[in-house]
Amino acid sequence: MIPVLQELKHAKRIRYFGITTSSPGQHAQMMDLMRRHPLDFIQVDYSIDNREVATSVLPLAQERHIGVLINSPFGGRRGAASVFGRVSNRPLPDWAAEIDAQSWAQVLLKYVVAHPAVTCALSGTTQLKHLDDNQRGARGRLPDATLRARMEKYWDSNA
Ligand SMILES: NC(=O)c1ccc[n+]([C@@H]2O[C@H](COP(=O)([O-])OP(=O)(O)OC[C@H]3O[C@@H](n4cnc5c(N)ncnc54)[C@H](OP(=O)(O)O)[C@@H]3O)[C@@H](O)[C@H]2O)c1
Repeated sequence: MIPVLQELKHAKRIRYFGITTSSPGQHAQMMDLMRRHPLDFIQVDYSIDNREVATSVLPLAQERHIGVLINSPFGGRRGAASVFGRVSNRPLPDWAAEIDAQSWAQVLLKYVVAHPAVTCALSGTTQLKHLDDNQRGARGRLPDATLRARMEKYWDSNA
């Protein structure tokens, strides 16, 4: 499909094309395609609870100037096993105020979009109040590399 998509782009029938996966088993193949083709974007899973791409796919996307859309920034729909299931009864840590986050959803989204390779995060919800909460995560300060490392440490030891 990639040559077909390249032709469509050349003919100005599409503006961008890219590839997507939610399967870690396809990351090696994805990286091979990222090295061999002029992709405009990729889409992969990434959350504070699922950081595999942070040291593989994301640095390559930065190096190749490929846009990155993030699937499942809350770790996907997993009921009580979801990221929210792990933190919903915990108060926000003090450092949440340093990034103007007023909910766990905002903490989790700010963590994802602050990765330097990430272009945008696609969060899913069935509830208007969650949509409103998530949109607020697009405002205010974002964590720098030091705070992101602190967030990971907090997550790994507490959540
Ligand atoms: N291209 C691909 O291969 C691929 C694969 C997977 C996903 N995706 C895309 O990625 C997007 C997100 O995926 P996803 O919905 O599976 O995962 P997600 O965004 O990581 O998680 C959604 C879960 O978080 C909950 N949630 C959302 N906002 C919340 C809030 N503010 N407070 C508390 N809970 C909240 C939702 O519950 P409520 O419904 O109750 O809000 C739902 O259970 C979708 O657009 C999906 O199509 C693409």
